[in-house]
Amino acid sequence: MKRKSFILITGAAGFIGFNLSLELLKDKKHVIGIDNLNDYYSVRLKKNRLKQLKMFKNFKSFKIDLSNYNALKNIFTKYKIEKIIHLAAQAGVRHSIVQPKNYLNSNYIGFFNIIELARLKKIKKVVYASSSSVYGNSEKFPLRENHKINPNNFYSLSKKNNEEMASIYSKYYKIKFIGIRFFTIYGEWGRPDMLIYKFIDSSFKNKIFFLNNYGNHHRDFTYIRDVVAMLKKVKFKNNTKNEIYNICSNKPIKLTKIFSILSNSIKMPLIKKRKHQQADVIKTHGDNSKIVRETNFNKFTSFETGLLNTLNWYKKYHKIKFSQKF
Ligand SMILES: NC(=O)c1ccc[n+]([C@@H]2O[C@H](COP(=O)([O-])OP(=O)(O)OC[C@H]3O[C@@H](n4cnc5c(N)ncnc54)[C@H](O)[C@@H]3O)[C@@H](O)[C@H]2O)c1
Repeated sequence: MKRKSFILITGAAGFIGFNLSLELLKDKKHVIGIDNLNDYYSVRLKKNRLKQLKMFKNFKSFKIDLSNYNALKNIFTKYKIEKIIHLAAQAGVRHSIVQPKNYLNSNYIGFFNIIELARLKKIKKVVYASSSSVYGNSEKFPLRENHKINPNNFYSLSKKNNEEMASIYSKYYKIKFIGIRFFTIYGEWGRPDMLIYKFIDSSFKNKIFFLNNYGNHHRDFTYIRDVVAMLKKVKFKNNTKNEIYNICSNKPIKLTKIFSILSNSIKMPLIKKRKHQQADVIKTHGDNSKIVRETNFNKFTSFETGLLNTLNWYKKYHKIKFSQKF
C-alpha cells in the first residue's frame, strides 16, 4: 500500500503555524504538527489553537522540542514527509537580550536538526521562517530582498544564520529552500507578546500599555490571512536554491495610528510612553513585489478590516474562555 505523504509544520501551536495548518487541513492536506508548547506566552492559547486543529482527522500532533534530535528523527522515520514548513523558533527581539540561550537551542540547533533530517531523509522542499529584523536599522525604504542585511540582536542574527545554513544545504544537498522574511504579522489567534494584542488586552483588562519610543515607530503590519494565502501559493522553482521572499503589506503604519483606529471601537487603555528600547528597529517597510509576482496575490486586506477582525476574534475568544472559567 502506498504511504501517505505529509506536510510537516513545526510551530503548529504558534500563531502563524496554527493559521496555516488550519487552512491546509481544510484543503484536505495531511499535516503533522510539531511544537514544544513552551511558556514564552500563554500555553493555554497554544493548547486552544491545537484543539481546533485536532478536530481534523488529517492532523497529527507531537509535543517535541526541536533540540531533541532523536525524537524528531523518529517522526521523520515513521512518516513520509514530502515538504517541511519550519516555523517553530524562539521569537521576539527584546526577549533575545534576556534569554539568548533559548535562541541558541531553538533557532540554531533546532534549525540545524530540521534541515539535517531533511538531508538524511531526502526531503527536497523546505519553507522556513526568517524575519524582517535581519535588515536591522535602515535608512533606505522599501526594503528589498537584495538589500544589505544587518542584524543588531541575537534573534535577528539567528535568522540570518538560518538563511546562511539553508544556502549551504541547498548548494551541497540539492534541497530547495524558501526563506520568508515576515514583517510584523497580526490577526486572529495572534501573539499576546505583540503590540496589537497587547493594546486590545490592556484596554479590556484595564492594564497600563507601555508605548516604546514615544510611539514614533513605524511597522509594516501584515494581516495573517494574507500571509497564509501567500504561503499557500508560493511555489518551489525548478532549480535548487535558497529563495528569499519578504512577506509584508508594503504599507508602514505609525503605531499611534492604530490607537486612533481602535479608539472608535474600544476604550483607550492608560498609555505610558517610554524611551526607545534597545534592539527595536525604528521602522520596517518591505517591498513585496517579489512575493506578489510569484503568487499573483494582490488582494491585501485593509488595515482597518484586519484590525476589526482581530478585535472581534479577541472578544469572541475571551468570552468563550471566561464562560468556561466561571
Ligand atoms: N509573527 C511575526 O510577526 C513574525 C515576524 C518575523 C518572523 N516571525 C517568525 O515566524 C515564525 C512563527 O512565528 P509566530 O509569530 O507564529 O511565533 P509563535 O511563537 O506564535 O510560534 C512559534 C511556535 O514554535 C514553538 N517553539 C518554539 N521553540 C520551539 C522548540 N525549541 N521546539 C519546538 N517548538 C518550539 C512555540 O511553542 C510556538 O508555538 C517564527 O520563526 C518567528 O521567528 C514571525
